[in-house]
Amino acid sequence: MELIISPDLKENKLEAVFCPVFEDSDKLAKAISYFAQNQENIFITQAKKEKFQGQKKHIFVMKLEDKLVVLLGLGKVRRLSSEDWRETAALLINFLQKYQAKNIGLVATQWLQGSADYERLAQSLAEGLYLSSYKFDKYKKIDKNSIQINIEQIFIELAKEKKNNFLKNWSLGEAMSRGTILARDLVNEPANIMTPSYLAEVALEIAKNNKQVRVKILDKEQVEKLGMQAFLAVDRGSHEPLKFIHLVYKPNTKVKEKIALVGKGLTFDSGGLNIKTGDSMYQMKIDMGGAATVLGVFSVLEQFNIKAEVHGLIAACENMPSDKAMRPGDIVRSMQGKSIEIWNTDAEGRVTLADSLAYAQKIGIKKIVDLATLTGAVMVALGPDIAGLFANDEKLGQEIKKASEIAGEKMWSLPLEADYKEYNKSQVADIRNAATTRYGGAITAALFLQEFINEGVSWAHLDIAAPAYAEKPLNDYTPVGGVGYGVRTLLEWLRKV
Ligand code: BES
Ligand code: MG
Ligand code: ZN
Repeated sequence: MELIISPDLKENKLEAVFCPVFEDSDKLAKAISYFAQNQENIFITQAKKEKFQGQKKHIFVMKLEDKLVVLLGLGKVRRLSSEDWRETAALLINFLQKYQAKNIGLVATQWLQGSADYERLAQSLAEGLYLSSYKFDKYKKIDKNSIQINIEQIFIELAKEKKNNFLKNWSLGEAMSRGTILARDLVNEPANIMTPSYLAEVALEIAKNNKQVRVKILDKEQVEKLGMQAFLAVDRGSHEPLKFIHLVYKPNTKVKEKIALVGKGLTFDSGGLNIKTGDSMYQMKIDMGGAATVLGVFSVLEQFNIKAEVHGLIAACENMPSDKAMRPGDIVRSMQGKSIEIWNTDAEGRVTLADSLAYAQKIGIKKIVDLATLTGAVMVALGPDIAGLFANDEKLGQEIKKASEIAGEKMWSLPLEADYKEYNKSQVADIRNAATTRYGGAITAALFLQEFINEGVSWAHLDIAAPAYAEKPLNDYTPVGGVGYGVRTLLEWLRKV
């Protein structure tokens, strides 16, 4: 997709021009006459006939001699947000699913109605266009009847002096999308392919392609030496070799601070000996969603000129039942020193994360964000679209929440309620891995993780069990399947640290 900035679109030969319109009859008439100066009455009558008034997600097509003009309804909003732009771009892509065009035009002034933020427009437009074109169909026979969207050129009508800034922000939006799409692909890949070794290969590839990124892959022996008995316990039942992935991004400038992004990397969660039933096991290839997000971020991190040194940590393994598997009642010594009673082998994510968090702090990191498809309980609490956000540092929590609003990724704060700590108490060990009550399960899981965070360390935890995977399209630019949730939020956040 080539992007061409042009001060006047009328000079370019275009197959289709897309223009968003508010639900407002004056503005609609203006938009129509902008494109069809001499035939405006015909089209205004036609729009009336088709009952098109600019309602949200409605489309009105004007066939002119030399091109197609497509009006995209915005509904009754006054000011457009990044999310409106992403969704409107997705509407455009949906339209192109039925109609092929290799070069299209967008009139920036029309897209900017009610706002002058063309930098954000550039980024969001790119995100909407790239993300809504995504498909995971590599294992399917190609359907000859379906139109492959193949936009070769996009012309944007914009004043010359805005060109460089627009292009720069467009490429950031493109990078946001690329990172998100990598994460989607990793989540969608089935567990017979997506093994811990596969995740490690992807990490190696990322380091190879990015000068500022390096990676270290630890195998079982090295993990044993580090004393990660908790991680090892979860891995025990599986024949797939575990991998501990440690990515490092170094900025070109002086390091302001060190940050760790920790992702849960269960490539399949059968539940272990506390085996899941068919329905709830079916989707468990997604249990490396947190790891996918971390890899997605690292794959494009270099494009964002981030000032912090960023570490990506993933304890990758599979949770399987076997005669070698960890048993309910087993007690394991975590890397940090606390003993953990395995109450339920299906609460394995927090056990692997305990050692990942310990590792992060051992290498001196004082700010940690973890992402994990951790609990079914968070889905009960917040429903299918929203992640649970926990933070022991209010400022960090707010920064991430703010970034998520710009990124269009929904999350909501849940409390680290100290009074609930007693539910994680064990009779025989320092802590147990599943609480004595199933109520507040997302909170007790977060409290378990907090036991492995030292004094003076800022930490935020995102329970992404729900939004890591979309059972129905999450929005117009996120189809069914892996969402790549969190990639854009983390990048937006890191840009500002
Ligand atoms: N991987 C699951 C959580 C999950 C559930 C992710 C649904 C995505 C969709 C996790 O390892 C798990 O099984 N958690 C248990 C914890 C319980 C045993 C305390 C759960 O939520 O039931
Ligand atoms: Mg490198
Ligand atoms: Zn589990």
